[in-house]
Amino acid sequence: MPDTQKFNLLANLAALRCPAPIHLPAAWHELARPLPFRYPLEEEQYFATKGGQRVLLRPIRPGDTSAYEAMFKQVERDDIRFRFFSYLKQLPSNELLRFEKIDYDLNLNIIALGITRSHQREMLGVVGATLFPQHASAEFGLLVRSDQKGCGLGRMLMEKLIYACGDRGIATLHGEVMMRNIPMLTLMRKLGFMFFYQSDGSYVEVKLRLFELDSGASRGS
Ligand SMILES: CC(C)(COP(=O)(O)OP(=O)(O)OC[C@H]1O[C@@H](n2cnc3c(N)ncnc32)[C@H](O)[C@@H]1OP(=O)(O)O)[C@@H](O)C(=O)NCCC(=O)NCCS
Repeated sequence: MPDTQKFNLLANLAALRCPAPIHLPAAWHELARPLPFRYPLEEEQYFATKGGQRVLLRPIRPGDTSAYEAMFKQVERDDIRFRFFSYLKQLPSNELLRFEKIDYDLNLNIIALGITRSHQREMLGVVGATLFPQHASAEFGLLVRSDQKGCGLGRMLMEKLIYACGDRGIATLHGEVMMRNIPMLTLMRKLGFMFFYQSDGSYVEVKLRLFELDSGASRGS
């Protein structure tokens, strides 16, 4: 067999074994990634925002940190302050740690993912809660990308968190909201949270009782 023919044959075989990369929808890429141990797959959920955008809500997985950092770059200064009580330039290390050392028992982080025009997943919002199982309580923080506010993402993430906490036996959910944060206070009121005003008037502690612990089953809260 002439040498050129041999070369073409090999090239064709290589092409068969390694097909040219094509633009697969982002959801397919996710399917190809192995799921981490104990990943709560049943908590994944699709929903449509008020603007008609299809969004996936799901617990975080390894590798989501870069999407969070990219989202953070698109959050306005005042929204960063409302979330972290400070004008931060980058995500705080304890927040990054929650994404890097995933512990599905003690940290509950749910993200909202949209799809860009180039079929990439992008993070639009996140709700995170630290669970204190011994007190049957959890402390949460919520952030929606500034250009995505008002589309229903904040409410969906909160409702998802409330449901997931209830599922894990969490009886009380609490957080801190700045007094001037009217959108968040409105959302909290609509979801049935109680308000505890601080004496210095800077922030409000919000609390939601998911269920009453009967005294016999109380875990010390
Ligand atoms: C607060 C925040 C999470 C709300 O998220 P969102 O996606 O914009 O809220 P939604 O579109 O889901 O709206 C939920 C409710 O909040 C209320 N709301 C939202 N924006 C509002 C605004 N600008 N003014 C008054 N109420 C508002 C609405 O009443 C809405 O009620 P509905 O569900 O019956 O329509 C978002 O503004 C945000 O990320 N802010 C910066 C970070 C922050 O404040 N985090 C909270 C600290 S823990």
